[in-house]
Amino acid sequence: MKRVALLGATGSIGRQAIEIIEAHPELELCAASSGSTPLDDVDAPLKQVGGDLAELLERADPDVVLNAVVGFAGIHATLWAVENDVPLALANKESLVAGGELVGGRGRIIPVDSEHSALFQCLEGKTGIQGLVLTGSGGPFRGRTRDELASVTPEEALAHPTWRMGPKITVDSATLANKGLELIEAHFLFGLPYDSIEVVIQPTSIVHSLVRFRDGAAIAHIGYPDMRVPISYALTYPERAPTEIPGLDLTALTLQFEAPDVETFPMLELARRAGEAGGTAPCAFNAANEVAVAAFLEGRLPFLGIADVVADALDRADTAAARDLDDLLEADRRARDLAEQGLPVA
Ligand SMILES: NC(=O)c1ccc[n+]([C@@H]2O[C@H](COP(=O)([O-])OP(=O)(O)OC[C@H]3O[C@@H](n4cnc5c(N)ncnc54)[C@H](OP(=O)(O)O)[C@@H]3O)[C@@H](O)[C@H]2O)c1
Repeated sequence: MKRVALLGATGSIGRQAIEIIEAHPELELCAASSGSTPLDDVDAPLKQVGGDLAELLERADPDVVLNAVVGFAGIHATLWAVENDVPLALANKESLVAGGELVGGRGRIIPVDSEHSALFQCLEGKTGIQGLVLTGSGGPFRGRTRDELASVTPEEALAHPTWRMGPKITVDSATLANKGLELIEAHFLFGLPYDSIEVVIQPTSIVHSLVRFRDGAAIAHIGYPDMRVPISYALTYPERAPTEIPGLDLTALTLQFEAPDVETFPMLELARRAGEAGGTAPCAFNAANEVAVAAFLEGRLPFLGIADVVADALDRADTAAARDLDDLLEADRRARDLAEQGLPVA
């Protein structure tokens, strides 16, 4: 029996995780949390709405933590798991991106992001690795021009073509900030330099990512886009429990790939620059993006303004490395302030 602490139980990943846990007799939910949504319909011995996630984990003493909180708010849970060497099924990519060296390379992290779950599986036990290829759908605005994006609404940005997800990551997918966060996430998870991590668009999200090897071979992970697969993999690792998701109908598939349009969607390159700059630049990128996305969803910032706010905050941020959590919290706070200053006056 594996006891799972599920943080972010009311979200898109959280709900699907509950479905997986209920379907597997060897998994047991020992604790569940949300930010503010009541947990009345969640069956767990320990439940917490808001409050201190590290303290909840301390009480729950889980065998695995599934961090499915959205945003930097997940940092305390991620640090708790890596510091206590409790396996961490990590959906909350923002905590790894912002946490950088304070999180990456420590503990036992099993990624839940479909691309990183794919890479994790393709890399396992392998040598001779040349580089990683992260795939992305391109989001709902793939193929559009900047002129066409000037007036898009939150409703349009929330209509993702291949994945059903929470609002923040859906907007991140539309700006390609999500692929940028994933680039930094891949760097900290797998320890490869940024110039060894490519991004390619594969619009139907069938190819979840690839690893290139020095002999010219590449190993890809393919399947239907369904987050229950990587959630189940992370929770039942290394067993790979069965799921009800069907195998691919290969004869019905045509796979197309294209380069990302980095002119129209500058967030991917901004993330790459932040990653290469190091220190707390990734933390600042993430914090400014969280502020800008919230402003866009509230109708206070146009879609194209998201990248402008983030670029400006990154230009002005002090990105000295964080020695500890206090430094990191301070870097996050400063970048949020800079991003707020860049928002249009109401
Ligand atoms: N959805 C996907 O398919 C997908 C795929 C890959 C990676 N991810 C990553 O997984 C994470 C969750 O995404 P999601 O789409 O599931 O988001 P979501 O649907 O918005 O759910 C977020 C969850 O986090 C909780 N939460 C929000 N703010 C919190 C806070 N300050 N303290 C504690 N809990 C808080 C929410 O509780 P309330 O209900 O109370 O707000 C909710 O349970 C994100 O990091 C995302 O990038 C998601």
